[in-house]
Formats: sequence, C-alpha cells, structure tokens
Amino acid sequence: MTGHRILLIVGGGIAAYKACELIRLIRKAGMSVRCVLTAAGEQFVTPMTLAALSEQPVHTSLWDLKDEAEMGHIQLSREADLVVVAPATANLLARMNAGIADDLATTLLLATDKPVLAAPAMNVRMWQHAATRRNVAQLRADGVTVIEPDEGAMACGEYGPGRLPDPEAILAAITAQLAPVKRLPANARPLAGRHVIVTAGPTHEPIDPVRYIANRSSGRQGFAIAGALAALGARITLVAGPVVLPTPAGVDRVDVETAREMAAAVDAALPADAAVMVAAVADWHVAAADQKIKKQPGGAPPALALAENPDILATLAASPRRPALVVGFAAETEQVLAHATAKRARKGADWIVANDVSGGKGESVMGGARNSVHIVTADGVESWPDLPKEAVATRLADRIAAALTA
Ligand code: CTP
Repeated sequence: MTGHRILLIVGGGIAAYKACELIRLIRKAGMSVRCVLTAAGEQFVTPMTLAALSEQPVHTSLWDLKDEAEMGHIQLSREADLVVVAPATANLLARMNAGIADDLATTLLLATDKPVLAAPAMNVRMWQHAATRRNVAQLRADGVTVIEPDEGAMACGEYGPGRLPDPEAILAAITAQLAPVKRLPANARPLAGRHVIVTAGPTHEPIDPVRYIANRSSGRQGFAIAGALAALGARITLVAGPVVLPTPAGVDRVDVETAREMAAAVDAALPADAAVMVAAVADWHVAAADQKIKKQPGGAPPALALAENPDILATLAASPRRPALVVGFAAETEQVLAHATAKRARKGADWIVANDVSGGKGESVMGGARNSVHIVTADGVESWPDLPKEAVATRLADRIAAALTA
C-alpha cells in the first residue's frame, strides 16, 4: 500500500472521533492522508487534531481563498488515489446521491474522478429509513463503495445497525479497494476439473447467401477470458462467432455463425460449472433469401423482415441445467450502470460486466485493446480502472475462480 494517497472526508457525527484513529492506521499502512472536515464535522473534532495526525493541512471551506490559490478544489479531488468518507452521515449520503455541491466536501465528491468509499454512521432508524436505503442503493449503483455499518449499542442509546465500523475494518476496505487483485501463484490451477463455457465475438445473420448483418465485436475480450480461465486449469468450451483470432492454449473452440447456432452450441456444451457470455449476439435474424437479392433498377429497396433471436444468456440462466455461475456482459451507450443492473435482473445472470460503448467508444471498446468495466453483482457495483483486455480477463478469471471455489 506504500505511497497511496487518501483524501479523507470527515462528516459530522459522534463517530468522527474514530476518524482520528483511522488517520493513524492509514499512515501506519504506508499511505498519506489529506483531510477535509465538514462544518458539522468541526463540531466533533477540530481541524488542528486532524492536521496534527495527518501532518497535512486540513481543508474546511470551499471559500478558503488561500487553499484555492495553493490547490484548487478540482485538483484536491483528483490528486488522491481514493476518496474515503468516514463517517458518512445520512445527510452527506443524501447530498452525494442528489449531486448537491454546497460545501467543500460535496463539491469534491462531485468533482472527483477517483473511486469513492463511504463508511456510514448514523442512528439505526435513520439508516433503515426508506430515503437512506434509496440513497445507498443509488450510490452503489453509481459505483460508490458503501460499506455496511456495524450493529450494536449506539451513542444515542438505541441498538441496531448504524455504528461506524472499527477503523481497522475501514482500513481493510481501503486496502481492498486499492490492492491490485491478488494474482494467484504461478501454476495454480484452482479451476482444474471445472468446465466453463465462454461465448465470444459477433454473430452474423445472413440476409442472403452473400450478405449479412453484423456488429463491431472483435472477440478479443471473450478470447482473452477463455485463455485466462484455461490458464487456471478449467476445461473451456469457447463458442466463437466469426472472428479471425487464434484459439488460446488449452481451449476447445466451436465456431458458429448465427445466434441460433451459438444457442445450440452452448446447449450442446452443457453441463458446465460456469458460463461467461461475452458474445455480442445479434438480437434479430433476417428471414434470409435463398438466392442473392437482386437490385431492381428504379425499384424500392428490399424491406428486411426481422425475427427475434433466442436470448442465449437468459435461456441458460433459467434452464434446469443452469451453471452455478452465469456471467453476462452488457455494452451500453447510456445510463450504463442502471441498464446493466436492470439487465442482470431481467436475464437472471449472477454478474453483469458492463462497459460504456457510447460516442466513439463503441469502436474503440468493441474493436480495441482496452476496456473499462463495472462488475454488477447482487452485492453492488465494482468499478475497475481502464485496463488492457488481457488484464480484464485475468482479473475476471481470478474472480470467477474465487467464486467457484468459495
Ligand atoms: N445475449 C445473449 N443472447 C442474445 C442477446 C444477448 O446471450 N440474443 C447476452 C450477451 O452475450 C451478453 C448479454 O446477453 O452477455 C447482454 O447483451 P446485450 O447485447 O447488451 O443485451 P441485449 O439483450 O441485446 O439488450 P439491449 O440490446 O436491449 O441492450
């Protein structure tokens, strides 16, 4: 962890005193910490305490011109590797969710491009209130890591969940967020004896014997995942749409052209312990003509009648032969996390790996070498940094191995 920089936002709650211990632990772990104290937070701890513990200036006001001259709030929000909010009060979570930027803390939270981790602390009724539930759910869907508060006796005399977790637990969450995913030891084969089906590439839906409908998928991400899972010892059936890629070592490849052929190949490959559906499957096929459609000079262009393709992922997830772990992908051009979360529920997948293919990104992600993804699971959303597709593949393979062997 040595060298990581934390921006710690201390909200106004009785638990603010625990932020002092947290600063000490963060520094002991080899990281530096710069503090922002909200006005309410100042009622519980002083800037002097935090400055002494962090050995850094403490920031309290957006209007502190001296600070703006030395370091603008945008820079402050971005120079850290991770923004930690502890304690995150109900009010702070509500303002974060609403995108309100009415003080230094919330302005930084809106301006930052770094991951955010919030450790809530509040009265049990406030934690359980529908408004807080909504705020936390939306923040998680937006990619904020909101850790669960502890349960126990509270300063207000009530009992229940709402206590700020111990500073050691918050430090562990910080470390987990910053740690590069632990690579398994070389030659570890945790997936030996397991069978995983991977779909990859586009599908081609013929219009006539010489034309087809396709999409920009290159198959690179799916092939990399198949290779990474094979490297962990799994037996892989890679059902590949039309792509020009070499078959990764140790992978059984089944080439298909259409979505219907892909569906049949996946079904034929069952049973499996896991399925990772990376293919960009065409949603529709054309009632294809047997002969090449001829251009009629001066005539109307042919109308293509489209019929829906089987949803391979949804069918598999609902099947009695469902693998223990079903992972889908979602390429979205807008509201990436909201659509991915809805897609996860609609298709019955355990995880959805979502990526943004809006604007020019469609071309660069679907055909390109890098990918920045969000892993949407029942527990929330994990946002990964922009990585080469091979690195996304190894991280995902490790995560799949951990899930299958847990
Ligand atoms: N998928 C599938 N069969 C289909 C369509 C999609 O198995 N006929 C799988 C993809 O492999 C991917 C996931 O479903 O894992 C989501 O694919 P996507 O194209 O994003 O979803 P759609 O269902 O096509 O939703 P929409 O086009 O409305 O976004």
